[in-house]
Amino acid sequence: MAQTDTWLGLAGRIAVVTGAGGGLGRAIAGGLADAGARLVLLDRDLPSCEETAAALRTRGAAATAMRCDVTDPEDVAAAADRTARDLGACQVLVNNAGLLRPGPIATLTLEEWNRLMSVNLTGYFLVAKAFGRQMLERKAGALVHVASIAGRHPQPWSGAYSVSKAGVVMLSQQLALEWGPSGVRSNVVSPGLVRTPMTDAYYRIPEVAERRAGIVPLRRVATTGDIADVVAFLASDRAGYVNGEDVCCDGGFGRVLMGLVPRPGFEARDPAEG
Ligand SMILES: NC(=O)c1ccc[n+]([C@@H]2O[C@H](COP(=O)([O-])OP(=O)(O)OC[C@H]3O[C@@H](n4cnc5c(N)ncnc54)[C@H](O)[C@@H]3O)[C@@H](O)[C@H]2O)c1
Repeated sequence: MAQTDTWLGLAGRIAVVTGAGGGLGRAIAGGLADAGARLVLLDRDLPSCEETAAALRTRGAAATAMRCDVTDPEDVAAAADRTARDLGACQVLVNNAGLLRPGPIATLTLEEWNRLMSVNLTGYFLVAKAFGRQMLERKAGALVHVASIAGRHPQPWSGAYSVSKAGVVMLSQQLALEWGPSGVRSNVVSPGLVRTPMTDAYYRIPEVAERRAGIVPLRRVATTGDIADVVAFLASDRAGYVNGEDVCCDGGFGRVLMGLVPRPGFEARDPAEG
């Protein structure tokens, strides 16, 4: 078992991850499993979710996959009940299932707007409420919500995506205030650019992949493990006094604004040359 196991103190905890059949969800589940947590994996795509569970079990972790559409209150309630009955009360919840769809606001239909919001924002609310109840009863627990730097910086031509992610940040802050007195923390991780099935099509074009890496101060896009590490920290007691925060994990990409301004006499020099 990984050394993080003792430092994070997550061994034996029941951790629920939504969208666990996808890129980030799978890596987040893996990070929590390496820290000894017992995983409940939710996704509307059961075969992908089962694949994640099988991979975790071969690594010696306990993992149960459940089909659950986070937009459906009955599905969510059934998953929460089954978790409590078969495994025990949820102690860590990672709200991660999300969608990205192209579309300019000017022509976005109400149906498209509602579809995205129902997964990316209302889904987070429904799952937080159903599993959060189990945490409130025990007066302990940690919620981590995956938002995006698109929640801080408007991402054009992406329909309701940025709006939904900004909403997630405020939902988390509100939960931090309402549930903090009961010992339940709520925080956000905002990833920058990451290669997952959601974004894979861009990275299959070599020039696009190169340009994406080139605009990040660290000169690479994130691995899914980069994000999973931050989630594991926020889920753990090592972040026991962190509540209502939004941790950006973007290699510094959100800080590039002033570096874009032409300023003669202030050109970049190779730091190695002194
Ligand atoms: N990939 C990136 O560059 C990036 C950057 C910032 C934030 N994010 C966010 O990270 C999260 C995970 O994204 P990803 O890149 O792993 O995407 P992904 O498409 O690989 O995975 C998303 C998963 O969510 C599941 N899902 C979708 N709708 C669902 C529903 N209604 N109910 C249950 N499950 C559902 C899908 O089946 C899929 O397994 C999303 O919230 C996304 O907005 C991704």
